[in-house]
Amino acid sequence: IFENSNDASIEVAEEIAKLIRRKQLSDEMCVLGLATGSSPIRVYEELVRMHQEEGLSFENVVTFNLDEYLPMDKENTQSYHYFMHEHLFNHVDILPENVHIPDGKVSNEKVVDYCLSYEKKIKDFGGLDFQLLGIGRTGHIGFNEPGSHYNSGTRVITLDHITRVDAAPAFLGIDNVPRKAITMGIATVLGAKRIVLLGWGQNKAEIIKNTVEGEISSQVPATYLQSHKNCTFVLDIGAGSELT
Ligand code: F6R
Repeated sequence: IFENSNDASIEVAEEIAKLIRRKQLSDEMCVLGLATGSSPIRVYEELVRMHQEEGLSFENVVTFNLDEYLPMDKENTQSYHYFMHEHLFNHVDILPENVHIPDGKVSNEKVVDYCLSYEKKIKDFGGLDFQLLGIGRTGHIGFNEPGSHYNSGTRVITLDHITRVDAAPAFLGIDNVPRKAITMGIATVLGAKRIVLLGWGQNKAEIIKNTVEGEISSQVPATYLQSHKNCTFVLDIGAGSELT
């Protein structure tokens, strides 16, 4: 638990940078699982600063984003594709072919194969070295809403009403929020060698408490993280305020 989300974000960015540099030294690709939303913005900002001011290179980095709304155009400013380019990819030297974000325009007929191929690509790169997560008020990680199975892989999910309520301001009203998304699964996330979940602010305090101190349950999918061997929750005082 950090004094504030700024100090916490810098620490997380430093861990990611260290991993990227370590992999560079051994000529390996660094496979990052990335999240969108408000929580990781400051981490990305710090990684961009490290690239611009300290020469941190992303040439050996491969990324897989957790999720994307369905349907969603890449060019739409509400897309996670747009978000990631705006906050990270447009400002670093990552190779475009190494960026993977679920395609919000894939057709109904192709989406099952598409999800399987997303999963396979992660495996072909040797799995995720590091997975960055935020947490939704429903206890979702990625868009794995309550009811998500421990063994779930990348798939189409129906968004929870609370998740759509939380997204409504960005879409100028709940009616404009897509009802579905493509998300990596719980098993995809748990396959990462290292997981860091970010939680900022008082409005995350209750779900953080339930996630950390509650029983492992599909009703709070983030509780599955309790079974991971190398997972850290990085919180500010507000988000950690209900922990006993
Ligand atoms: C986003 C994602 C979601 C968010 C969560 C928290 O890619 O997978 O699980 O991390 O909804 O969102 P913020 O950070 O906006 O509170």
